[in-house]
Amino acid sequence: MTEFKVTPWEVEGDIDYKKLIEQFGTQPITEELVSRIEGLVGEVHPFLRRKIFFSHRDLDWLLSMYEKGKPFSLYTGRGPSGHTHLGHVLPWIFTKYLQDTFGCDLWFQLTDDEKYVLSSNLTLEEIDTYTYENTLDVIAMGFDPEKTKIFSDLHCAKSLYRHAIQVAKKVTFSTAKAVFGFDNSTNIGLIFFTSMQSVPAFLPSIQAGKKVPVLIPCAIDQDPHFRITRDVAEKLGYYKPALIQSMFLPSLEGPDSKMSASKANTAIFTVDPPKDARKKVLNAFTGGCQSLAEQREKGGNPHVCTIFQYLYILFEDNDDELEKRKQRCLSGEEMCGNCKKYLADKVEEFLKEHQKRREKAKGMIDDFVISD
Ligand code: TRP
Repeated sequence: MTEFKVTPWEVEGDIDYKKLIEQFGTQPITEELVSRIEGLVGEVHPFLRRKIFFSHRDLDWLLSMYEKGKPFSLYTGRGPSGHTHLGHVLPWIFTKYLQDTFGCDLWFQLTDDEKYVLSSNLTLEEIDTYTYENTLDVIAMGFDPEKTKIFSDLHCAKSLYRHAIQVAKKVTFSTAKAVFGFDNSTNIGLIFFTSMQSVPAFLPSIQAGKKVPVLIPCAIDQDPHFRITRDVAEKLGYYKPALIQSMFLPSLEGPDSKMSASKANTAIFTVDPPKDARKKVLNAFTGGCQSLAEQREKGGNPHVCTIFQYLYILFEDNDDELEKRKQRCLSGEEMCGNCKKYLADKVEEFLKEHQKRREKAKGMIDDFVISD
């Protein structure tokens, strides 16, 4: 029995990523693919080396096209239902690496419409505020303004809608039900929404007036949408978009759940005052024992430790350092307090830098954002 659930709107339980690949019918990122990327761009991001991006669809095809001289565009996005947290930033860091190394254009969608139809309490005005706040975070990632377009569905509705209805016409209610588990109580806005999320996969081709390969870096929970996108792509005269998909950053509560905006203390937000974020790290769940004496004797458990996971996923690029820390933990030499401080320093540093760039982003909106 599987004890986890992954849909675009709900992520629950202790996720078995291998099983998820089987359930979703995606492909694992293999060593061969990693070396192929290394051969092409000379630089392998730790997310690839460590298989944080662990799954894909048609990445091999995309690389073959690239090798034949056909460049690709990138497409990713964000649902502006709240402030950005570190879990959201993870795919954006990778997207930036892809833009830098492969020199790609990037189309960044903000799905304000989705968050409105989904939310039980947010008004459109509140969502507009998050659209703006999240945009600052996206710009702060350092994307190339010459090559990046950020747009919200509501503010680009006129341009997007004519393409969305073409997708909608090809998707039956029974497909949407099978893919997303919709029932008679689902509002019809949500049923239509997947058409809007499909459109940016086609925008590079629409703009170029010819078929352009597209790669979508995203967390694995978005896969259901893109199954539909891929299903209709060729019928509408486009390539199927390729996908490269990441795991989730666990919540500070423990490894069984992804960070959630609804649980403020278990996630680190980009707007958190660095000192508050530090406190969150110092209170996080670890794999340590009840007492120091017990830990010295038995060692800790890095596999369930949030601190170790944060270092592994985001904050410790140095493989040797990470391995040494793991060994010290297992052997009982390292105490949780030290690891917590080590991570807290890194988190504080990241936030300080990010928040500086976020301030600067306020004057750069027009370089990135497009609207009707
Ligand atoms: N639906 C996504 C969310 O809720 C936002 C999104 C739109 C997205 N297009 C995307 C995410 C493409 C990844 C890739 O966060």
